[in-house]
Amino acid sequence: MTGAIMIGTIIAAEIKSIIQENKEVKSFYLKPTRNIGKPEPGQFFMVWVPGREEIPISVSGYFNGLIRISVAKRGETTNYMHTLRNGDFLGLKGPLGNFVHVDPNKKYLLVGGGYGVAPLVFFLNEYIRLGGEKIEVIIGARSKDLLLFEDEITQLKAILHIATDDGSKGFRGTSIDLMKKIIRKEKFDEILLCGPEQMLINGAKLAIKNNLKAWVLAEGYMKCGIGICGSCELGNSGLLVCRDGPVFDALTYLRSLETI
Ligand SMILES: Cc1cc2nc3c(=O)[nH]c(=O)nc-3n(C[C@H](O)[C@H](O)[C@H](O)COP(=O)(O)OP(=O)(O)OC[C@H]3O[C@@H](n4cnc5c(N)ncnc54)[C@H](O)[C@@H]3O)c2cc1C
Ligand code: FES
Repeated sequence: MTGAIMIGTIIAAEIKSIIQENKEVKSFYLKPTRNIGKPEPGQFFMVWVPGREEIPISVSGYFNGLIRISVAKRGETTNYMHTLRNGDFLGLKGPLGNFVHVDPNKKYLLVGGGYGVAPLVFFLNEYIRLGGEKIEVIIGARSKDLLLFEDEITQLKAILHIATDDGSKGFRGTSIDLMKKIIRKEKFDEILLCGPEQMLINGAKLAIKNNLKAWVLAEGYMKCGIGICGSCELGNSGLLVCRDGPVFDALTYLRSLETI
């Protein structure tokens, strides 16, 4: 399930274009200098930023050989990435990790919070490309200026639901509060959750309570990204986010964090 030929190898990739998605997130369209294969939704790269660190970032899109990653300003390395320009180079190790199988015949609900929307929008693009027509997306943010990929999701003609903590757009509350309302009225084959840890825990519990199949796209503190250092262990479960994930079924995720 991983991009086996590239594990441990860093490939240089040129920044071809940069889009400011909102005040905290920029997308980078990257052209690798060697063929690294097509990433799958849920997979990530260890992105080596010259002069800084190597950090895990999910794939948010793949367009004719260009890899898109969408990076939120957080600390030193991500802030520095926001100063990069077209023509600069990054290093890519991957694609890494397991992924979510896209089935265009299934009905999905995607639930994202903050930059967690990034891998979900990649899934959505793939689902639509394969001819899928039954998909709904919830995007959540603290306020409307932090919503991510609203235009792209609308253009892809998915049914879009918006939740903001401060009520500045759409439903007032979290994406999980909105998920609760939606699943009361509608049935879905699978739910995909990506966002901050507490959001994932609440979403996974809600899905299990309602007998819904759900996948969690988890985060962990990563150093090597390839199963060696142990820093990304999910709770004390022995499961490594980089090697056994980042995609986990909801029950495995909750059990690993000992929250169920
Ligand atoms: C599988 C995976 C996929 C990811 N995908 C994306 C993505 O698509 N877009 C994106 O913007 N970010 C993503 N991240 C998070 C990203 O890797 C971190 O934001 C980044 O490493 C922070 O680096 P920094 O040097 O800028 O900040 P640091 O100075 O290292 O940290 C800044 C702050 O963020 C906290 N922090 C850093 N990393 C994490 C983490 N993994 N979990 C919780 N808190 C953390 C630190 O404790 C600190 O408070 C992903 C992480 C993982 C594990
Ligand atoms: S990051 Fe080193 S084991 Fe996962």
